[in-house]
Amino acid sequence: MKFFVDTADVEAIKELNDLGVVDGVTTNPSLILKSGRDILEVTKEITEIVSGPVSAEVVALKADEMIAEGRKLAKIAENIAVKVPLTWDGLKACNVLTNEGHMVNVTLCFSANQALLAAKAGATFISPFIGRLDDINLDGMQLIADIRQIYDNYDFETEILAASIRTVNHAFEAARIGSDVMTAPPDVIKKMAQHPLTDKGLEAFLSDWEKTGQKIL
Ligand code: E4P
Repeated sequence: MKFFVDTADVEAIKELNDLGVVDGVTTNPSLILKSGRDILEVTKEITEIVSGPVSAEVVALKADEMIAEGRKLAKIAENIAVKVPLTWDGLKACNVLTNEGHMVNVTLCFSANQALLAAKAGATFISPFIGRLDDINLDGMQLIADIRQIYDNYDFETEILAASIRTVNHAFEAARIGSDVMTAPPDVIKKMAQHPLTDKGLEAFLSDWEKTGQKIL
């Protein structure tokens, strides 16, 4: 499973990237706002840190304007994935940008039929938003499972990018179902390393070690 970091915070990306667990980055207009940085500048910086796909989102609503924005964003670096919303115009833009050889991440997906259309339109990634479905009492994880089954039925190459991951359980379930990628905020990825029994076990080992009076270095 590939891990993308869902942030435009350069320091957080560097920290996780140094650990070797980062396969890509996703950003969106809200994350750009949070970073307080210029979209072109911060996206360029991120593409220089991470070699995998870095999603940068268009903000136009009409297909021809999305395509123009997508082309501009794609010029930032070779590893840009242009992010377009799952609207009719977004699907048109996806098809054009894909045919031009760009990676396209179709975002704001909330149904399996939307995901099916995105795959038909040639999306590189489809981003179903798990957390936002859970927020309104729907089953985000079932959507990942449904898309997995449909894509496998027809050997679609579009990768399922589980998005809006809010908890470590979301990460675990997405991996168990077979999502190709997950994008999660840095704190969720860091929490995946934690377990109280690890902390307790380490404390006991170190306490016993001190009693031996030995040193390794
Ligand atoms: C994905 O690409 C989005 O940026 C992100 O996962 C949205 O997550 P949220 O619902 O927590 O804002």
